Amino acid sequence: MFKDNFHSNPSQLFDFAWDKLKLATTDYKSNFRNVAVSTVMKNFPSSRIMVLREVNLEEKSFIFFTDSKSNKYDVIIKNSHSSLLFWDSKSKLQIRINGNIYIIDDSKKWWNKLKEKSQMQYGSLPIPSTQIKESSSFELKSSFSRFAVLKFLSIDIDILDVSNKYNKRAFFESENNWVGSWVVP
Ligand SMILES: Cc1cc2nc3c(=O)[nH]c(=O)nc-3n(C[C@H](O)[C@H](O)[C@H](O)COP(=O)(O)O)c2cc1C
Repeated sequence: MFKDNFHSNPSQLFDFAWDKLKLATTDYKSNFRNVAVSTVMKNFPSSRIMVLREVNLEEKSFIFFTDSKSNKYDVIIKNSHSSLLFWDSKSKLQIRINGNIYIIDDSKKWWNKLKEKSQMQYGSLPIPSTQIKESSSFELKSSFSRFAVLKFLSIDIDILDVSNKYNKRAFFESENNWVGSWVVP
């Protein structure tokens, strides 16, 4: 028997996907929690996994944390164009989102919510991507001044549902007020 998510129109699929994305910020087992975040540098895409920290349904925005001494931080300052890729093997949804990513100011609010162990992820010495002799030749340090909060704002969203006998795909755009349409998978 096929597991069918029963989305009879694009907006139902859209709402279903956003509910799953929102849940991922609190459900540590959600596949949507670890997101492939792609940026562009000198015409090459560069992807890495990042932990999804918050989802804002109204803004269609996402929050991520990083170290301000990481490569991606420099890249984002030069080019905000980016995309997110999500795959949930349980609901069998792929979500691809194009948008812009920005560094935001209110990092203290987020920093205070992090456990001490997590704060140690921001402030390594030497800085990320430095060549080292041994794999352990660095120390983890908690440094608030290195802690950066990134906000991704969505422009368009492509959702592919492969949970049914027949795949369903829908495309949504911010400039169309997120009214979507079915497209050929
Ligand atoms: C499961 C997982 C979660 C990760 N979460 C983050 C994260 O939230 N923020 C971050 O900056 N890097 C995170 N990383 C590390 C990045 O994928 C990447 O290796 C590192 O940040 C260097 O990327 P860059 O050179 O593009 O800056 C995570 C890696 C994995 C495997």
